[in-house]
Amino acid sequence: MERADPTRLQSARYTSEAWAALERERLWSRVWQIACTEDCVPEPGDHWLYEIGDLSIVVVRGEDATIRAFQNACPHRGNALVRGHGRGLDRIRCAYHHWCFGLDGRLQSISPQGDAAKKTEPPRTARDPGIGLIDVRVDVWGGFVFVNPDPGAEPLERWLETLPAELAWVEMARYGCDRFMTVELDCNWKVAIDAFIETYHLHAVHPQMLAIADDVHTPITLYDKHSKFVQPYGVPSPRRGGDVDDQELWESFAANLGHRMGIPFADQMAPGPAPAVPEGKTMRDVLIGRIRDHLATLGPLYADLDDHHVIDDFHYHVFPNAIFNVFAGWYGLIRTRPGATPETCSLDMWNFDLRREDAVDAHPRPDEVVLPREEWPALGPVLMQDLELLGQVQKGLRQPGLEEVRLTPAESRIGRMHTVLDRFLDPPADLRLPGPRD
Ligand SMILES: [Fe+2]
Repeated sequence: MERADPTRLQSARYTSEAWAALERERLWSRVWQIACTEDCVPEPGDHWLYEIGDLSIVVVRGEDATIRAFQNACPHRGNALVRGHGRGLDRIRCAYHHWCFGLDGRLQSISPQGDAAKKTEPPRTARDPGIGLIDVRVDVWGGFVFVNPDPGAEPLERWLETLPAELAWVEMARYGCDRFMTVELDCNWKVAIDAFIETYHLHAVHPQMLAIADDVHTPITLYDKHSKFVQPYGVPSPRRGGDVDDQELWESFAANLGHRMGIPFADQMAPGPAPAVPEGKTMRDVLIGRIRDHLATLGPLYADLDDHHVIDDFHYHVFPNAIFNVFAGWYGLIRTRPGATPETCSLDMWNFDLRREDAVDAHPRPDEVVLPREEWPALGPVLMQDLELLGQVQKGLRQPGLEEVRLTPAESRIGRMHTVLDRFLDPPADLRLPGPRD
């Protein structure tokens, strides 16, 4: 029987090479993870390269329009076949010896081998009609292409538990993403996940959010592997002690989520005087009305949505490395990928907007933008506050006297992630979660 989720974690889980090696060997090669969106490979011949740690996976749309994925390695001598994203391939040709593979991964041709081949037996593998690229499992949910290198993995549908049913109202595939941002961070990939799956740090790191979001009454749901919180928006935090007036709430909501009401970016920092609040109503009601009006301009999809779903935040951690921050009309995806050392990672931030049904450019192919440190402020103050913190967290975790860190109940989603990590990693005793029996 599995133990209760931990309230203490060894800091080595975030810093040690031994732990990172376990993740390489037993985690990334065995879990479903988001490689890209369907919009990244809209046409036959389009391909997208998903790289996480040592893993390099090519997602390809075949001539039959099917999306497939392969390990980025030539079965001849192991050369990585693809260097980046691209379009219009009619086959995959290895640059090393020009062995060619169809978009379905099957070997098409082997280039002639010259005189030496006449004197020696050709390699058996070259004559094997079954030879081809190494398949990676692929499945799609919500417009996202998930991959899993483990051929024996459970189906994606089961992996996602109740999330597809819970999020069915969103119709995520109706959204589009023009571009996503990647930043390189000096922290472990889990340090970045941790900071986005609890609201406990809001009052310390993002005090400006306390005017518009309740960080205290944020119910948490733990699933078998994943987790959720639902955060009320359009109401001040109880930490503010009732001192937030309608003007501050209006300005803060416009500054942080003005796009949800259709306020142009240029006006979000100075939205003008707060709209009048009718008798018996609250500013939250007014905001809900504004969001409804904006959503209605995009189509009838959310015409019957209740107020709670119109304004509040439905925030999911999809084990291990994806976070969906879902609001009606807009959602964010955050994904982290381990870097070359346990103390570096890449953080990918995707923004998805609900597109009008009749919009011609509803589903652009997203651009990937790697944002240098000096351009981080373009991400906005809230993300800046998080990103500037993460390296400091990693630095603290590295201190030799800090053997463990502690989780409060408000951070239980982090505990659940580590419980599930132990299931996959089966770590040695010194790295296993401390529990009552230790
Ligand atoms: Fe944060």
